[in-house]
Amino acid sequence: MPSRLTRRQFLAVPAALGATALLPGGLVTALAQETPPLPDLSDWSRVRAQFSLDPAWMHFASFFIASHPAPVREAIEAWRRAMDRDPFRVIEHGMFEDDAHNIPLQVRTTIARYLGGQAEEVALTRSTTESLALVYHGLPLKDGDEVLATTHDHYSHHESIRLATRRAGASMRRIPLFEDAAGATVDALTGRLLQALRPETRVVGLTWVHSSTGIRLPIREMARALKERRPDVLLVVDGVHGIGAADETIATMGADYFCAGCHKWMFAPRGTGLIWANAENWARLTPVVPNFSDIESYNAWAEGREPASPTNAARMMPGGFHAFEHQWAMGAAFAMHEKMGRARVAARIRVLNDQLKAGLAGNRKVRIHTPVSGDLSAGLVAFEVDGMKPDAVVARLLEQRIIASTSPYAVSYARLAPSLVNTPEEVERAARAVNAIAT
Ligand SMILES: Cc1ncc(COP(=O)(O)O)c(C=O)c1O
Repeated sequence: MPSRLTRRQFLAVPAALGATALLPGGLVTALAQETPPLPDLSDWSRVRAQFSLDPAWMHFASFFIASHPAPVREAIEAWRRAMDRDPFRVIEHGMFEDDAHNIPLQVRTTIARYLGGQAEEVALTRSTTESLALVYHGLPLKDGDEVLATTHDHYSHHESIRLATRRAGASMRRIPLFEDAAGATVDALTGRLLQALRPETRVVGLTWVHSSTGIRLPIREMARALKERRPDVLLVVDGVHGIGAADETIATMGADYFCAGCHKWMFAPRGTGLIWANAENWARLTPVVPNFSDIESYNAWAEGREPASPTNAARMMPGGFHAFEHQWAMGAAFAMHEKMGRARVAARIRVLNDQLKAGLAGNRKVRIHTPVSGDLSAGLVAFEVDGMKPDAVVARLLEQRIIASTSPYAVSYARLAPSLVNTPEEVERAARAVNAIAT
């Protein structure tokens, strides 16, 4: 066994014939030849045309799980065809070839461009849930440490903290950041967070855009205040409903660990997600799942020693073979968002959500829980109709062929989520339908 293994020798995969024999010019060139260039996305009807959503329905719950737009479907299909033709050589080449040909690294590079960070700072995962679990279980928590979360976070976030703190002998505390999301202010949100810190607090967990009320936390301001007060406390952000919906440079937002699924607002393949962190914060973590991406892990295993270098993003990426046609097609979604423009996407989502809120605002039987301001909200409008259970509201909307959803929290609301797949006309019809129910 050589002391320094190449990527190709990683996992004792024998040298393949070389991908050039299979796919002249390499896998990426071959993929490019098999997939059409990104379409014209200069107006919203063209964007909407990329989705094969059933036109008989109005889709206001797209944030739940994405419908793959055409560029993503085509990328998945191209990879699938290549893998079905020759799974060994395509996957072996894509995974274990040198960095210039490594497909996950190319995907991470495309994602990093969107986040405003570096490829080496991005770990690929399968969901928000997996990202959060990897981070919290990787943190060096010990007996007596506290993780501070909020009462508003998702099940996946709370459970990741509960399971990780339980193993470490640490504790978890949840605080409300507001009583009424619609009335929240930046100062009040920040003040509540700072007030709640205790000497034993080691980590704070926040959710960027809440799927319970639709509030968008001012993470940048809250992170700045947190670090000023307690530079030793790490900030973990569940960002799944912000990425692809808000105009932010995520890598500079102030999160130490940014966790998100990419299969909601980003429209990446179902079963894809990410973690972003800088090198210093990756180095704090202990991996939970063996990886197939970091050669030092394999060298150390082969030589019967611990990895010599600090933990990095590649070492935290869950190994084992995955649905690679999905993971490797993530880049198509990020490229599509890049072409649409982050600011333009966020502005469109804001206009549609403003329209819906305005359409419901005059109805005294409708209580909107999402802040009116687009500065404290994104793509979700959570509301209640006087005297009706949220499920009943959703059922009534469904009768009108409007797909809404209820929030899966202890206190549940009805939600409509105007997104890039909707038109102002659809938003108008949804508002009218809610107002007709709430009479
Ligand atoms: C705020 C929030 N976090 C996490 C999740 C779980 O996402 P995933 O399916 O990517 O694990 C959801 C699901 O909708 C969510 O709303």
